[in-house]
Amino acid sequence: EKGGYDYFMLKEIAEQPKAVADTLLGRIDAAGSLTLDEVRISASELREVDKVVIVACGTAFHAGMIAKYAIEHWTRIPCEVELASEFRYRDPILDARSLVIAISQSGETMDTLMALRHAREQGSKVLAICNTNGSTIPRESDAVLYTHAGPEVAVASTKAFLTQLVACYLVALYLGQVRGTKWGDEIGAVIRDLSQISGAVERVLETMEPVRELARTLAHKNTVLFLGRHVGYPVALEGALKLKELAYMHAEGFAAGELKHGPIALIEDDLPVVVVVPSPRGRSVLHDKIVSNIQEIRARGARTIVIAEEGDEAVVPYADHLIRIPVTPTLLQPLVATVPLQVFACELATARGNEVDQPRNLAKSVTVE
Ligand code: F6R
Repeated sequence: EKGGYDYFMLKEIAEQPKAVADTLLGRIDAAGSLTLDEVRISASELREVDKVVIVACGTAFHAGMIAKYAIEHWTRIPCEVELASEFRYRDPILDARSLVIAISQSGETMDTLMALRHAREQGSKVLAICNTNGSTIPRESDAVLYTHAGPEVAVASTKAFLTQLVACYLVALYLGQVRGTKWGDEIGAVIRDLSQISGAVERVLETMEPVRELARTLAHKNTVLFLGRHVGYPVALEGALKLKELAYMHAEGFAAGELKHGPIALIEDDLPVVVVVPSPRGRSVLHDKIVSNIQEIRARGARTIVIAEEGDEAVVPYADHLIRIPVTPTLLQPLVATVPLQVFACELATARGNEVDQPRNLAKSVTVE
């Protein structure tokens, strides 16, 4: 049942191109418009939405953080994202014009369920993004957009995460389509890029051997840091979470701009620091800033592990290890940039002799608050 792989996690990492393609299947028509008929919240209700609030836990929360960038950029609707476990306890401001998006692979996470119940009590519409048909969260929501990752067995989420991202992009683009915001060349181009992204994920998977080799050489380390900016920041958080849960190593993700506000004090000789570099095209300011962050940490002794687009030459002089990813539009980059981090954590865990599919102390679905 592991299809020839040693672990379900390896199988699920390898299934990502298909999972991504399946989640897009039937949702983009020949003319390049989105047909999300399943979202049974009417177009007129969606046009009334004045705020989007995303609630989720763990990896799904990281998908939500990335969704915020996409939703605000493509639709100009203010979007908040909050850990489901914190949400209802702070008395959040919600009403009938708030659209709440609950993201959950299992559909059974108690924190997320309690958050969505709270939102519905305030009169908000809830849209679930979920991988498990007929589970509690979609049953209690007003509408659901299913991710089509197939069953995810390994405790650490991989393919579900990528499909959550795809679903979030689809919702963001759909809101843009329904409301007519920024609906034009940019959105059309994004939909075309999204429909080809599965091939890019496939290409990343084909080049992972050096990442595995690198992971094995770091198995004795105590700490790994992860840095990113913009959508690369949640990717950094996700890379750190994977490493904690699988390799039981101290790992932390930071927004690269925060370095000088404290974390740079952690840098010491030979400390591995993974940096997710945004595309040098598009918002190139971001790129230039992160290149100088890489220089700063390297000057202080860090061993830099740089994840950068093919053709990005500016990072080469400062990268002790360079991991290439395909050229993708800025907002879609997490779909390719996360994959090496999954492989990295999985291989490190194996090298440390850990049980990859069943990390200690963790359960696949967390049905207590
Ligand atoms: C991390 C992981 C967890 C889950 C979180 C939410 O690899 O698997 O952080 O993402 O417990 O679970 P769902 O998505 O089922 O609500």
